[in-house]
Amino acid sequence: MATNQNQTFSTKLITWHKRHGRHDLPWQQTQDAYRVWLSEIMLQQTQVATVIAYYRRFLARFPTLPDLAAAPVEEVMGLWSGLGYYARARNLHRCTQVVMDRYDGRFPQDPDIIAELPGIGRSTANAIAVFCFGARQPILDGNVKRVLCRTHGITGFPGAPATEKALWALAETLLPRRDAASYIQAQMDLGAMICTRNKPACLSAESNCPLSDICVANAENRVTELPQAKPRKSLPHRESRVLLLHQGDRVLLERRPPSGIWGGLLSLPEIAAGVNPAVHAAQALGCDISRFHALPPLRHNFTHFRLTLLPLSGAVSLLPRAAEAAGHSWLKREDIDAAGLPTPVRKILKAFFGR
Ligand code: ADE
Repeated sequence: MATNQNQTFSTKLITWHKRHGRHDLPWQQTQDAYRVWLSEIMLQQTQVATVIAYYRRFLARFPTLPDLAAAPVEEVMGLWSGLGYYARARNLHRCTQVVMDRYDGRFPQDPDIIAELPGIGRSTANAIAVFCFGARQPILDGNVKRVLCRTHGITGFPGAPATEKALWALAETLLPRRDAASYIQAQMDLGAMICTRNKPACLSAESNCPLSDICVANAENRVTELPQAKPRKSLPHRESRVLLLHQGDRVLLERRPPSGIWGGLLSLPEIAAGVNPAVHAAQALGCDISRFHALPPLRHNFTHFRLTLLPLSGAVSLLPRAAEAAGHSWLKREDIDAAGLPTPVRKILKAFFGR
């Protein structure tokens, strides 16, 4: 697009946003970088409707960055539990440590410096700098990529480095001279409310998209085709046997190693392939179990593989002390909701105790 068409793009978005955009989300009432940063991290992979309750709970418990920095990481994981993509929570905590150590507890203002903090990429750093410090920078999250691919007819999978580079260059040229904060919020809102992935407004009878008359995909009937999907590879599949050892209303949990899937979260003890469950229970967990029952398998999709959990339950007659020492703990049924458990593990426990 030529310069005046670029202006048309941003002007149409800002005008639309004034009347139809979202203005009362909890993180829009502040320019406190801690609060804005927290919302942007939560919103990286999760929708607004889900984030709001988590955001409020987090801020009630950790009203300032030093509060979050001082908390044990396990408590942060517990509050994050259910939001998924747990590396975000570990990075969140690490980020507060870096801001305390290097920047005296206050967020840096330069987007290039913000982007070096744990868990913050270029788009999130720019959003924080624009919303809190009046910077003039573009953003490029999933919603914005979709909007740009459609409006400008950009082909190629948006996550591919070459396509992403082209999208950043385009995003730079489209940036209005003024009012960057309204403009980027307008892009986010248009992507979430109008130019959605599966039901874009332009495909319905009364299209209310402010960009429909300048949109390449709309003009060329390619809206469902853009953005292009990731070239498909079939996902590898893994199975994992886990033990659900219970005594009365308690169940034995094991803290996972800090890296890898569900790093640092409490989970059901996993048995390596080929190891007899009774032997593992006795030797690693100090529990003598005479009989195991297979529970229904539970499938879960990660970005890079599919996992099937195969739970085996076993009743323990006495609470063995040995297990407590080695990163294990007995969780009470009533504490399941508050514990930092991966969602599939929580489902298995609920199904088990619900019977
Ligand atoms: N997604 C990412 N950032 C957002 C924000 N500030 N408002 C709404 N949705 C978002």
